[in-house]
Amino acid sequence: MPEQTVITKVELAPAHEHKPLRFPPGFLWGAATAAHQVEGGNTRNDWWLWEQKSGRIAGEATSERASDSWNRFEEDFGLLAAHHLNAHRLSLEWSRIEPREGEWDEAAIGRYRQMLTSLRAKGISPMVTLFHFSIPQWFAVRGGWAGRNAAGYFDRFTRKVYAELGELIDFWCTQNEPMVYVVQGYLLGLWPPGKRSYREAWLAFKNLVGAHRRASDAIHELARTAERPARVGVANNLISLYSYRKHSLLDDLYIIVSDKVWNHEFYRETAGSHDFLGVNYYFHQRLSRERGRFFDVFVDIRAENREMSDIGWEIYPAGIFDVMLELKELHLPIYVTENGVATLNDDRRVRFIVSYLKELYHAIQSGIDIRGYFHWSLLDNFEWEKGYAARFGLTEVDFKTFRRTPRKSFEVYGEIARQNAISHDILRYLGHAVE
Ligand code: FCB
Repeated sequence: MPEQTVITKVELAPAHEHKPLRFPPGFLWGAATAAHQVEGGNTRNDWWLWEQKSGRIAGEATSERASDSWNRFEEDFGLLAAHHLNAHRLSLEWSRIEPREGEWDEAAIGRYRQMLTSLRAKGISPMVTLFHFSIPQWFAVRGGWAGRNAAGYFDRFTRKVYAELGELIDFWCTQNEPMVYVVQGYLLGLWPPGKRSYREAWLAFKNLVGAHRRASDAIHELARTAERPARVGVANNLISLYSYRKHSLLDDLYIIVSDKVWNHEFYRETAGSHDFLGVNYYFHQRLSRERGRFFDVFVDIRAENREMSDIGWEIYPAGIFDVMLELKELHLPIYVTENGVATLNDDRRVRFIVSYLKELYHAIQSGIDIRGYFHWSLLDNFEWEKGYAARFGLTEVDFKTFRRTPRKSFEVYGEIARQNAISHDILRYLGHAVE
C-alpha cells in the first residue's frame, strides 16, 4: 500500500500575529460628490436644460431636487464626521457662482463658504472640483468648451473662487474627467452639448488642456501672494486596458496607443501643472479585434460572465493596482479621487471597498506614493443619463422624503478610516484572511 500523508493539523498563527494592513500616516479617507448630482435646484446650467427633453435620461428623471444637499449639507457632512472620514471631495457649481456672465452671486458664494467652513470645523479636509461636467447656460451659449475664450472665462471664475474661498480649500481639481466629458458630450452626443463631431471634440479637448494650465497657474500665483500652499490637479478617469488575445502584435499596438491616448495624453499636454495626480478608477477592459463593417474594430469582451455592477461595469480590483503602477513614472503623489460601485446589494459594496483598498495597500507597499482615497459616493444621487437607479451611495437616499440612511458599507469603510488600516477582523469577515 502506498504511504499516505494524513494532514491532521493545520498550523494556525495565533490571532495576534495577523497584522492589519496599515496605511501611511496622514492618509486621506474621503468620499466624493459633484454639485449637479447632489445639490438639486441647479436651474442655470446646461445639464438642467438637457434633462428637460424626453428620452435622454433613464426613467425620464431630472436632477430636480437631486439629493437635496444644497439644503442638507450639514447633515451630510455630519455623516462624514460620524464615520471618521478626514477628507471630502465636492464641486462648486459655476452656474450658481456666476449665473450671468461677469455677475457674481454673493448668496451662493456665502453658502459654499458655509459648507467649506463646516467641513473644516469637523476636521475634514476639502478637495474642490471647479468643473464637474456642468457649465453655466451663458457659457454654453458662447460655445462652451469648444468656444473661443473658454479658458479665459474659466480663468476668471477660478480667480474669483480663489479670492472668495481659497483659504478654505486644501486641494483643487480644476476639472473632472476631461476625456470622459469630451467623449460623452462631443463624440457620442449622450451629454450636453450633444455633439458628434471630431472637430469640436478636438477643440474642446484643446481648450480643456489650456484651461487647466491657466487655472493651475492662477491658483499658484494667488497662493504665492497669499503665502499659502497650492495643491492642484485634475481628476482623471483611467482605464486598465488589456489585449484579450495573446501573440498579436497588432492588438498589442492598439492597446499601447489607446493607453497613451486615454490615460496619458491629458497629463502629457499639461505636464508641469500638476501637484498631484487625481485618479477616478472604474473601468477595466479586455479589448479584442473583430471584423467591423468597413474595418476591424476593438471591442471589450463581455462573453465571460464576470462580476458586474448594476450598470454593467466589471468589478476587477487588480485593475486599480495596474493603473497606479503606470503612474509611478510621473513621480507625483496620487489621490484616488473616485472609485465606487453601483449596486443595490450593499454586501457587494463592502466586498468592493475592501478588495480595492487591499490593492491600493499593495501598491503603496510596492513604493507608489498614494496619499488618499475618496469613495464615490457619499450619497445616492443623480447619476447623469442613468438617472436615479444607479445607487453608488455609502448612504441610501429616499428620493421622496430625502431621508438619509447610512449603509453597512459606510460603517465598514468608516472603521477602516478610523484605524487607518484594514483590520484582520474585516479581512476575515470577507473570507480574505489567511487562517
Ligand atoms: C464618474 C463621474 C461621477 C460619477 C461616477 C459614477 O465618471 O466623475 O460624476 O458619475 O462616474
